[in-house]
Amino acid sequence: MKALITAGGRGTRLRPITHTNNKHFIPIANKPMIYYAIEAVAAAGIHDIGVVVNPETMGELEGAIGKGEQWGVKISLIVQEEPLGLAHVVKISQGFIKDDSFIFYLGDNIFVGGVNHFIQSFSNSQTDCHLVLSKVKDSHRFGVPEIKDGRIVSIEEKPSNPKSPFAVTGIYLYNRHIFEAVNAITPSPRGELEISDAHQYLIENGYTIDYSEVTGWWKDTGQPEDLLEANRFVLDQIIDRPDGLMVEGDVDAASELCGKVIIEKGAKVIQSQIRGPVIIGEGTVIENSYIGPYTSIYSDCYLKNIELEYSIIMEGCRIVDVDVRIEKSLLGREVTFSRGKSKPRTQKFIVGDESRIEL
Ligand code: G1P
Repeated sequence: MKALITAGGRGTRLRPITHTNNKHFIPIANKPMIYYAIEAVAAAGIHDIGVVVNPETMGELEGAIGKGEQWGVKISLIVQEEPLGLAHVVKISQGFIKDDSFIFYLGDNIFVGGVNHFIQSFSNSQTDCHLVLSKVKDSHRFGVPEIKDGRIVSIEEKPSNPKSPFAVTGIYLYNRHIFEAVNAITPSPRGELEISDAHQYLIENGYTIDYSEVTGWWKDTGQPEDLLEANRFVLDQIIDRPDGLMVEGDVDAASELCGKVIIEKGAKVIQSQIRGPVIIGEGTVIENSYIGPYTSIYSDCYLKNIELEYSIIMEGCRIVDVDVRIEKSLLGREVTFSRGKSKPRTQKFIVGDESRIEL
């Protein structure tokens, strides 16, 4: 069995972060999102992994994941020149997959709980396609199956009147018949080859589809709030120690840590309160501050005289002397917040396109 992981896409709903970063590198609990997908398939014993990238961010991705040595797997990059849909991703990957069965994993979906049981179900049932479903409140945002007597009888993409409360999540298992489907379908009104249309083709042409429900936790990280929620969930899972603390950096005697807290090596906590779940990355310094639950601070940041919670702070940010509590925030790399020294005391902004600021 092989694996195909998506790591392209433009991440338009996550701008401005995605103006300069591939969405799949946004850190969740200080680990690039794409690593979760690679780790999950590697843990399921899959060695041959195709990662589908767009031409713009290919270099960045190649630099970060290499050929897969760090996971003991073999990664092949497959370039999707234009964003023409998920079924198009499968279509252009036929040369890599050949006649093998494979797991198709959307790299911007965070699953907690691994993928082994989905692979097992697919292998045991000997069907042509296995879908992983999750019950959601807003199924109209997803591919939606119609289920009768425990069987999927149709699938629609983002229907205005969903026929079930289930979303098709971002894990799919296929045998070679999926290539017949992706080669037969035509683009949807949004100009994409829809993966739901490929599934509908399989159903209409007598192929067998079955499904299982997500057992752990799943999030499609399309919007900033989804990232914060995924970060919250992963942080909650990450430390499995009775005292909840994993401290490799320096914490001075005037600081207090409580709850699940990871302080990575080279990080410094001075005269601060850290209330977990929180992760503080390598080389980051926190001084005279409060860091509250569900916060991830990446490496080489400097935070002084601030209060911060429920946020993701990326590499090299500098936040100093801010007198309101910052929460529900997503800061890209090397963002600076500071207090101006000149008079009059006004608020000054230099922000990139499509940034959002709430005062
Ligand atoms: C895609 C699929 C959709 C699926 C979703 C899961 O949607 O087209 O069927 O339910 O991924 O994340 P998109 O994220 O491209 O809107």
